[in-house]
Amino acid sequence: MFNRLFLFYFSLLSQLLFFVNCLNFPGARAGQTSALVGTKLYFFGGDSNGEVWYLDLSNSSLFNTSTPMWYKDVSMPLKNFYSTSCVSPTNNSAVFIIGGRQLLPNSSAVAFNSFNSSVFRFDPNNNSLWSIPNITNFNSTFKTRNLIQAVIDKTRRIFIFGGSNFEANSSDNSSIIYYNDMNLLDITTMSWSTLNILQAPPPCYAYTSTLLPTGLIVILIRTFNTTSFVWSNRTVNGSSIETRIGHSAVLSQNSDIIVYGGSKESQLGPQTLPNLCVLNTNSWIWFIPDIPPVNTPQSLTFHSAALYKDYMVVAFGHIASTQGLFNKDVYVLDTQKYTWVGIDNTETTTQDSSTSQKNKLQSPSNPSSINGLYIGMIVVGGIGIVLVGVTSFFGYLLYKKAQHKSCN
Ligand SMILES: *[C@@H]1O[C@H](CO)[C@@H](O)[C@H](O)[C@H]1NC(C)=O
Ligand SMILES: *[C@@H]1O[C@H](CO)[C@@H](O)[C@H](O)[C@H]1NC(C)=O
Ligand SMILES: *[C@@H]1O[C@H](CO)[C@@H](O)[C@H](O)[C@H]1NC(C)=O
Ligand SMILES: *[C@@H]1O[C@H](CO)[C@@H](O)[C@H](O)[C@H]1NC(C)=O
Ligand SMILES: *[C@@H]1O[C@H](CO)[C@@H](O)[C@H](O)[C@H]1NC(C)=O
Ligand SMILES: *[C@@H]1O[C@H](CO)[C@@H](O)[C@H](O)[C@H]1NC(C)=O
Ligand SMILES: *[C@@H]1O[C@H](CO)[C@@H](O)[C@H](O)[C@H]1NC(C)=O
Ligand SMILES: *[C@@H]1O[C@H](CO)[C@@H](O)[C@H](O)[C@H]1NC(C)=O
Ligand SMILES: *[C@@H]1O[C@H](CO)[C@@H](O)[C@H](O)[C@H]1NC(C)=O
Ligand SMILES: *[C@@H]1O[C@H](CO)[C@@H](O)[C@H](O)[C@H]1NC(C)=O
Ligand SMILES: *[C@@H]1O[C@H](CO)[C@@H](O)[C@H](O)[C@H]1NC(C)=O
Ligand SMILES: *[C@@H]1O[C@H](CO)[C@@H](O)[C@H](O)[C@H]1NC(C)=O
Repeated sequence: MFNRLFLFYFSLLSQLLFFVNCLNFPGARAGQTSALVGTKLYFFGGDSNGEVWYLDLSNSSLFNTSTPMWYKDVSMPLKNFYSTSCVSPTNNSAVFIIGGRQLLPNSSAVAFNSFNSSVFRFDPNNNSLWSIPNITNFNSTFKTRNLIQAVIDKTRRIFIFGGSNFEANSSDNSSIIYYNDMNLLDITTMSWSTLNILQAPPPCYAYTSTLLPTGLIVILIRTFNTTSFVWSNRTVNGSSIETRIGHSAVLSQNSDIIVYGGSKESQLGPQTLPNLCVLNTNSWIWFIPDIPPVNTPQSLTFHSAALYKDYMVVAFGHIASTQGLFNKDVYVLDTQKYTWVGIDNTETTTQDSSTSQKNKLQSPSNPSSINGLYIGMIVVGGIGIVLVGVTSFFGYLLYKKAQHKSCN
């Protein structure tokens, strides 16, 4: 009954957004989470909205033109950023959005007490239905968790390491907690467990997490064995790579981890070099591909990246070294040839998916009006301490409360 009321409220809200939102392409944003469902690359939320947009990558003209077609889907039940998402490998590709900073729609009020959960389910192939799964043994300390990255394996187990809680009171850091736990959500049984592991790494947030085909999760330069639940250190050699935060990592078809972007110290910090670097997970050697300077994207941080076939699709984020300007563009890297093959630098067009109950789209508006300046963490995040993004490979490691150092 309660859920039904919520669903009613969501759909009412969607109807309202129908009128309120007149953009036919997504505005600039950062801190969103992206997920590939079939050929559709979804983007959920971002500072501070709950919008859902997708690109249909089966239309290869995305890689050739500067005007990709955007589709808007049913908005999230709440505003959400610094969350993480996983796509179920079976069961109609449900997307699970976990954690993040959750604010009630159209409000700056924190949503945690309204939902008592940090897990939302989105069914893109079932009328874009949003629901709140009932989870057995949900660990309530996870309710406000953010700056995390989840991976899902073939057996439908989601693994989420560490992160920090989100406190809405910007003048009080004292209740912020940094975690080094490993949480496991089994989406077949919908049951939660917080694993009790010896020799866990120190608390860390804003790391990236990459699942290798061998069943190892690579976090920082450590690996976590998803069978034995054992952590190991890794020695990594090769090119010199600056530590960074707010960048992204994808796993290529041949098990290279491709890291893009990031910045030093904070969202507002300067870019890190090189912009793009690759970790071979067989030899554990870094290398820096020589990329022709054509279609080169801006230096981004707090963006998202996803792999579709051999293409790495990099989107949104802050433009590094600009004191926080938001990016609205999408860039595509051919990971076989190491060339940038596409760029969206201009106003984009949108097509309404009119067959379902998705939000109808109205007339376009001036894109320049949505290039927002990042005006401080208090406004966006509601807290003053967080200096990091959701897709950092190195992330920040906490060694003393309220002091930070790179996880690397
Ligand atoms: C660009 O378009 C051409 C011709 O339409 C096509 O052959 C090519 O595969 C496209 N490029 C990409 C990267 O999809
Ligand atoms: C592919 O995208 C282009 C614009 O980028 C659009 O003109 C065309 O209609 C799209 N094709 C399909 C099949 O959606
Ligand atoms: C998900 O799919 C698996 C395999 O097809 C099936 O065994 C399971 O019952 C499904 N679970 C749900 C919740 O639909
Ligand atoms: C959301 O905010 C807009 C702009 O402030 C306002 O016009 C609209 O009525 C609000 N919607 C709800 C559901 O409160
Ligand atoms: C959330 O938890 C609070 C306190 O435990 C409770 O009062 C409230 O009814 C719960 N809300 C939902 C939606 O379950
Ligand atoms: C689609 O969602 C409805 C609930 O609205 C549910 O009853 C049904 O089982 C779902 N269908 C699939 C294929 O998941
Ligand atoms: C969760 O449980 C409640 C109460 O048992 C039920 O009303 C609701 O439909 C369930 N939600 C889902 C998504 O199954
Ligand atoms: C926020 O924290 C400050 C410092 O601890 C405290 O004085 C203030 O009452 C808090 N505000 C709220 C709304 O809890
Ligand atoms: C919930 O998570 C906290 C923080 O990691 C941990 O201390 C606690 O033991 C967990 N609770 C259970 C029941 O696993
Ligand atoms: C993970 O641990 C299991 C059990 O100890 C072991 O058999 C397996 O080889 C390990 N996987 C890797 C990739 O090291
Ligand atoms: C990893 O290395 C650190 C020292 O850098 C050490 O303290 C820790 O115990 C090692 N962890 C494992 C699992 O070996
Ligand atoms: C909160 O943490 C930040 C970053 O460490 C620090 O600069 C600031 O002084 C802290 N604020 C309070 C009220 O403790």
